[in-house]
Amino acid sequence: MIRRVPAQRQSPDRKTVLFGKTICRLVAVAPWAWPLIASSVGRFFDRAADGWDERTDAGSAEHLATLASGLDALGLKPERVLDLGCGTGAGTLFLSREFPQASIRGVDLSDSMIEKARAKIGLDPEGRVSFRTGDASKLPFGDDSFDLVTQVNMPVFFRQITRVLRPGGGLILASSLGDRTPFSTPEKLVRRRLGSLGFDPIHSGSAGDGTWIAARLKETR
Ligand SMILES: C[S@@+](CC[C@H](N)C(=O)[O-])C[C@H]1O[C@@H](n2cnc3c(N)ncnc32)[C@H](O)[C@@H]1O
Repeated sequence: MIRRVPAQRQSPDRKTVLFGKTICRLVAVAPWAWPLIASSVGRFFDRAADGWDERTDAGSAEHLATLASGLDALGLKPERVLDLGCGTGAGTLFLSREFPQASIRGVDLSDSMIEKARAKIGLDPEGRVSFRTGDASKLPFGDDSFDLVTQVNMPVFFRQITRVLRPGGGLILASSLGDRTPFSTPEKLVRRRLGSLGFDPIHSGSAGDGTWIAARLKETR
């Protein structure tokens, strides 16, 4: 079930938008610089975890609309799904409901976000859904581990995504406030990088206030 949209969603302030966009651009064009800022970004989100869902409407229909549209465009039935920068787990748990047979992993840099996400896991005797702290720049998974990688409002670590995604697998990059999303990367830059890494076709669209990009990794690299 997707939560109803509350009447008030706090818009990110200009400083946060500038901060997030600068980090996303840096990660996209100079990923080697990420270790210099990773711990500050982690601390920023540790501090932001309390009250995150209430402030950002994470888990609302509006917040998840982009992820849902990206899924429609790909039309996959994945068995292994990875949600990067899962935050408090709203997108990850949505994916677990969409794909009731799949195993779903949520990874986030922030321990505090992961703690909140874990608290939301209901009855799951088979351990189908799990959350762990981790850095998307050095993912603790083997090559070709996933059929689908998703992320909502998160910098893109292109090489790691390409490594853990199996050939033919799908990727969804969602920005729940479109161009106003603080942690978002310009579509032109994303398309260029995905094209050079062997993703084809690349789709994009909008849903609610947000935008999404969805792509398939070619069967042969
Ligand atoms: C803007 S929040 C979005 C959270 C969640 N996806 C949502 O939409 O509510 C970005 C999240 O990405 C996480 N993050 C940032 N850089 C990361 C990295 N390198 N690896 C894993 N998580 C990261 C942050 O800790 C934060 O929880």
